[in-house]
Amino acid sequence: MYCIRKVTEDLYWIGGNDRRLELFENIHPIPRGVSYNSYVLLDEKTVLFDTVDWSICRQFLENLEKVLDGKTLDYMVINHMEPDHAACVEEIILRYPDVKIVCTEKAALFMHQFGFHIDGKITEVKEGDNMSFGKHNVVFVAAPMVHWPEAMVTYDTTNGVLFSADAFGSFGALDGKLFNDEVNFDRDWIDDARRYYTNIVGKYGPHVQSLLKKASTIDIKFICPLHGPVWRNDFAYLLDKYDKWSRYEPEEKGVMIVYATMYGNTEAAANSLATKLVEKGIKNVVMYDASKTHVSYLISETFKYSHLVLASVTYNLKIYPPMFDYIMDMKALNLQKRTFALIENGSWAPQSGKLMRELLEEMKEMTILDNEISLNSTMKETDGILMDDLVLSIAESMK
Ligand code: FEO
Repeated sequence: MYCIRKVTEDLYWIGGNDRRLELFENIHPIPRGVSYNSYVLLDEKTVLFDTVDWSICRQFLENLEKVLDGKTLDYMVINHMEPDHAACVEEIILRYPDVKIVCTEKAALFMHQFGFHIDGKITEVKEGDNMSFGKHNVVFVAAPMVHWPEAMVTYDTTNGVLFSADAFGSFGALDGKLFNDEVNFDRDWIDDARRYYTNIVGKYGPHVQSLLKKASTIDIKFICPLHGPVWRNDFAYLLDKYDKWSRYEPEEKGVMIVYATMYGNTEAAANSLATKLVEKGIKNVVMYDASKTHVSYLISETFKYSHLVLASVTYNLKIYPPMFDYIMDMKALNLQKRTFALIENGSWAPQSGKLMRELLEEMKEMTILDNEISLNSTMKETDGILMDDLVLSIAESMK
């Protein structure tokens, strides 16, 4: 059975949802599922904008057939070649053999690499190229490394629709509600949108900034991403989030405490610090156990808060592995501009503080507070005095 939504008078959403997939990219948990968005325009020519993941191909083909209503498909614009969107390209060619594929040179190269049979089908486009489908004229805008090198976005100058590829997307399946004004985005979606952006695109902040600059010169009426809700108003809210995330600026002044504990003693120290912070009036405090929290959630929250406290036990004379993985992921995603405080623990040779500091110092524009706390097995009264000093330092640095 088809399941479609009208976006404008002649543009339809024909994507679908996968609520069965556990791990997006086989790494990031998606308890709320994910949508794969595809759109079809009915003009003098019929145009498909991206396909979908293989998992929902049948639904997608039924949707497309319903919207085309017996017409043939003239064009397939591939803004992004990653298989969660381009998996069904060959299925489309099989059903609509006269279709022409519109994409960048690199996207065509990737299609060959992935073994697609596309010879004679490709119309290559580059930055600034135009194409008319009848009433609708579109311009293609290169979006390299947002987040693959072949990516582009397509802007329909006739109705102001921006097909934004992965940009402005989110984890989370669509429960019938397609548009941003049909959901409470700030309550129900922002955490998944942030987790999607920071983990999938986060490394490429400067490239996102360059795309945002281009977007600021056009009159956008709709943003049609490849995942999550379609935006038709309140663009300032979304653009502000993207601007902050891509400049690695925190959204909020607040303290995120991430602890790595074996027997609860490092956790006890983290609890003590959190309590002291709140008593000092710093109430925007969140705590996470590095062993129990998937690193994609830690990364997302790390992009949100200004201050981080990393408290780690020493393990094999190194940083406790889940904490190490988290810091390495931070580094891989190019995180910058945060203030850190460090707490180490060790029963005979505490090392984790020094090692965490070394890793953080290799990252850009990170401030690491001097008063590091070193615990031997458990927190003592004397450690409590040092922790009071640390709270003062954190409070001072938040002014
Ligand atoms: Fe949603 Fe980069 O693919």
